[in-house]
Amino acid sequence: MTRARFENRVVYITGAGSGIGRATAKLFASEGAKVFAVDVNDAGNAETIAQIRSAGGTADGGHCDVASKAAVQDSVAAAVSRFGGLNILVNVAGVVRALRFEEVAEEEWRRVLSINLDGAFHTTKAALEHLLKPPVGNIVNVASISGLRGQAYNTTYCASKAALINMTRVIALEFISRGLRANCVCPGGVITPLTLQFQAREDFESSVMAYYMPPVPGLMGQPDDVAHIITFLASDEARMINGVALPADFGTTA
Ligand SMILES: NC(=O)c1ccc[n+]([C@@H]2O[C@H](COP(=O)([O-])OP(=O)(O)OC[C@H]3O[C@@H](n4cnc5c(N)ncnc54)[C@H](O)[C@@H]3O)[C@@H](O)[C@H]2O)c1
Repeated sequence: MTRARFENRVVYITGAGSGIGRATAKLFASEGAKVFAVDVNDAGNAETIAQIRSAGGTADGGHCDVASKAAVQDSVAAAVSRFGGLNILVNVAGVVRALRFEEVAEEEWRRVLSINLDGAFHTTKAALEHLLKPPVGNIVNVASISGLRGQAYNTTYCASKAALINMTRVIALEFISRGLRANCVCPGGVITPLTLQFQAREDFESSVMAYYMPPVPGLMGQPDDVAHIITFLASDEARMINGVALPADFGTTA
């Protein structure tokens, strides 16, 4: 039996054109949500929307670079105008690039932070007034176990995800009395195109890379695994959960 936990709910989701974002957008739609999907990958995003519609769900959306405050403001306004409100914000868009610390140029530092951290800041600022309208909604941010501990050769990503986790905790605390929840899911390795961007190189020390491996070598998640956790956190079933950074990592960080 199909559950309809998100009937009459509007979900705005970034990074919807691939991987975890696409799986999550589809899962929300399959449970009755109206999904507004955005990405810089226009073809991938259009494919996500098409897949939702062909399965009988409701979706719209378009291009949005989350690093741009103006683009995010326009996009959130378009979502509200299209579906009449906004109840759940899911920040999935993210990038990673494995580099030695010495190789990280300031431009690369700014690029990754502007997407992984500023992106969620911009969407939250733009969505907040809508999320706070009854029925008061919630935010799920996709961080990473790289935000819970250090990871060699991953300076920008680790910094961005750690900051995203703590920004989420602050939002969770600050809006408690108004009923708005904010949580993070922190995946370990998931099989998506992004994973290919973080590959070991010959000049990386394998001992410090190994430190970050799951307890059973090769244990990787699928996008759907994370999508189920995101939809749970966004659902009323999780109404007691606020401000968590929930690892989804087969115990890697245990
Ligand atoms: N795959 C993993 O192992 C893993 C582990 C932990 C956390 N995560 C996080 O999960 C999220 C999704 O990653 P994924 O694995 O599905 O990767 P993915 O590359 O399949 O999807 C990421 C999406 O974000 C989009 N994106 C990139 N820059 C953007 C921008 N400026 N504006 C809007 N969209 C943008 C990309 O176009 C892409 O569609 C990311 O935040 C990532 O950090 C992934």
